[in-house]
Amino acid sequence: MIILKGISKKYAAVCALDQVDLKIPDGGIYGIIGKSGAGKSTLLRTISLLEEPDSGEIWYGDERVDTLKGRELLLRRRRMGMIFQNFNLFSSRDVTGNIAYPLEIAGLHRKRINDRVEELLDMVQIKDKRGARLRELSGGQKQRVAIARALAANPEVLFCDEATSALDPQTTRSILGLIRDLHRKLGITVVIITHQMEVIREICEELAVLDGGRIVEQGKVDAIFARPQTLAAKELVNV
Ligand SMILES: Nc1ncnc2c1ncn2[C@@H]1O[C@H](COP(=O)(O)OP(=O)(O)OP(=O)(O)O)[C@@H](O)[C@H]1O
Ligand SMILES: [Mg+2]
Repeated sequence: MIILKGISKKYAAVCALDQVDLKIPDGGIYGIIGKSGAGKSTLLRTISLLEEPDSGEIWYGDERVDTLKGRELLLRRRRMGMIFQNFNLFSSRDVTGNIAYPLEIAGLHRKRINDRVEELLDMVQIKDKRGARLRELSGGQKQRVAIARALAANPEVLFCDEATSALDPQTTRSILGLIRDLHRKLGITVVIITHQMEVIREICEELAVLDGGRIVEQGKVDAIFARPQTLAAKELVNV
């Protein structure tokens, strides 16, 4: 379980996160929605320890993680994978080079890296693209490379920030199908931030609604879509 207690984060006068309390169960697919500027990306960067909150606590199971520094922080971060809307891949590296990157950082031997990259290429179904340059790939294929890279070091959590927002509906479905399959196969916890309601409906079990930096609603996806309680949730799910 990932637990956030009273997390707040300000940027100058903007209160991006305001006393956020959140519990994300292990092994599920959890969605976070909210209007543009609601604080979704800030929340994700905070949960994934890329950004320090001004106040509050973050727990992964029974370990408090927001206070980690230096090597401990680095090791904890290696247990998380992240994917983004714009893929954030290295354009100077080919497909294999991108996927190998976190394994090189972790100091694995070349033979183990090569074996693992092959496994990952297979997992995300782009074996035929192993030597391709990034500019030779479609958006969907790039996101597959990003997923392989995110999962390379066997993380416990996969964070997705608008990972399908740049993709057409059909490619979105194929990437969601892949994430769902990997989630089942690997038992990994998935946290998805998106403004695409169809993504939430399609693969999330639970959901939190963020509005003005606050969690205004949380619960089962079916229940919130059937009976949104707040104006913020109504505006999002009724469109
Ligand atoms: N690094 C930063 N410096 C200053 N302000 C920031 C920074 N990051 C976010 N903000 C502000 O915090 C608020 C929340 O931003 P955030 O990016 O978390 O929203 P979001 O819900 O992800 O929006 P979107 O759906 O458009 O991606 C916004 O008002 C934004 O301008
Ligand atoms: Mg965002």
